[in-house]
Amino acid sequence: MPDYRIRGGNRLCGLLDVGGAKNAALPILAALVLSEGESVIHNCPQIADIELSVEILRHLGCRAELKGNTLTVHVPAITNTTLPTELVARMRSSILFMGAMLGGCGEVTMAGPGGCQIGPRPIDLHMKGLRKLGAVINEDEDMMHARAPEGLHGTRIYLREISVGATENIMLAAVKATGETTIVNAAREPEIVDLARFLNAMGAAVQGAGTSTIRIVGVKKLRGTTYRIMPDRIVAGTYLLAAAATGGDLTLQQVNNADIKPIVAPLLAMGCSIKERPAVIRLRAPRVLKGLHLTTEAHPGFPTDMQALFVAALCLAKGTSIVEERIFESRSAHVAELIRMGAHITLTTDERTFIIKGRAHLHGAQTTSRDLRGGAALVLAGLAAEGVTTVTDAGYIQRGYEKLTEALNSVGADIVLA
Ligand code: UD1
Repeated sequence: MPDYRIRGGNRLCGLLDVGGAKNAALPILAALVLSEGESVIHNCPQIADIELSVEILRHLGCRAELKGNTLTVHVPAITNTTLPTELVARMRSSILFMGAMLGGCGEVTMAGPGGCQIGPRPIDLHMKGLRKLGAVINEDEDMMHARAPEGLHGTRIYLREISVGATENIMLAAVKATGETTIVNAAREPEIVDLARFLNAMGAAVQGAGTSTIRIVGVKKLRGTTYRIMPDRIVAGTYLLAAAATGGDLTLQQVNNADIKPIVAPLLAMGCSIKERPAVIRLRAPRVLKGLHLTTEAHPGFPTDMQALFVAALCLAKGTSIVEERIFESRSAHVAELIRMGAHITLTTDERTFIIKGRAHLHGAQTTSRDLRGGAALVLAGLAAEGVTTVTDAGYIQRGYEKLTEALNSVGADIVLA
């Protein structure tokens, strides 16, 4: 895997476009197996996980062509219901193909999902929901066999915990089930709203996405459609925070202003000046950032995917900051690496609360990324640090950021992939 090498200290100034959201594109690509005919998906980010999903679709017999950011897929009547283990094991969100395949073909055989190492990421809520819809799922060794011998039937599903993936998987399985499904305590993330919009564009009847109760009336058939994936709010947040950490002045285009509110609120509290117009946001960093207290929560709370990035930026802020990770058990691999760069961070014994003593003098170091957003946080710290930072295993970061070096260099950074 290549590494990022960053010479820090440059202010990020200028204009960037934000591309399509990975976390919206992944369930939407899985949803294609529910349809028949041709779909054209615009604004697909050019990242590894999208290519993996396209490969899975091809393996299932779909004709798929990815040209720039536009994916054209022809979905035939799918007969192959076994997913390729070497692809599935590389990406956690491949679990979404379970609901989609059950809904589309009534059957699927697949390996357990892989993905980023951010602590235990169970799939019990997915399984429970799919079983409640009528799926019979057997797990033997590393393989899972799911089928719906008597079809899938609408029902009421209460999610014990708010889960983005489980909400999406149940939606995918329910859109062609007979009768009505209600998901109670559903996740409210904007990517779920995007999935519902896409499913409805294909002919589904999904209501309430974006609220905690989603109602789905099953339909018999879904047709191909043309769709544009929503902008990536985490990529937008990453760029804004990189500008904040480098004393920059950055304008982003193609953002969804409502979706990034939970990221903009802490940036304002840190003293950044923000101006917004529809689909555009400009951030001007203050001379010194202010520290703050942040807690990750399900949407519309502060997103866990921004936690590591804020921890990195808060190392530079005035005063002591506290960041609490409430969604994932072990999302702290970036902390030890930031400390190597001169950060003053202590962790509570459960490793879920980070106490950050501010105004650290960050210096370049050799660091290792172990997950996507933690790795991006090291890049951000490297942009603000004095000297040269190397972030090894760029592969993790490339999973979520399209053309990261080109984008950052175009606004003044000095970063290469080597
Ligand atoms: C999605 C996002 C990820 C983001 C996360 C939380 C995608 C591809 N990934 O991940 O970027 O960090 O939402 O916003 O969209 N849980 C269970 N049982 C389950 C499922 C989840 O206990 O069956 C727990 C998890 O361990 C975690 C919490 O629920 O503590 C939230 O996880 P979830 O929302 O499911 O995350 P993902 O969908 O995997």
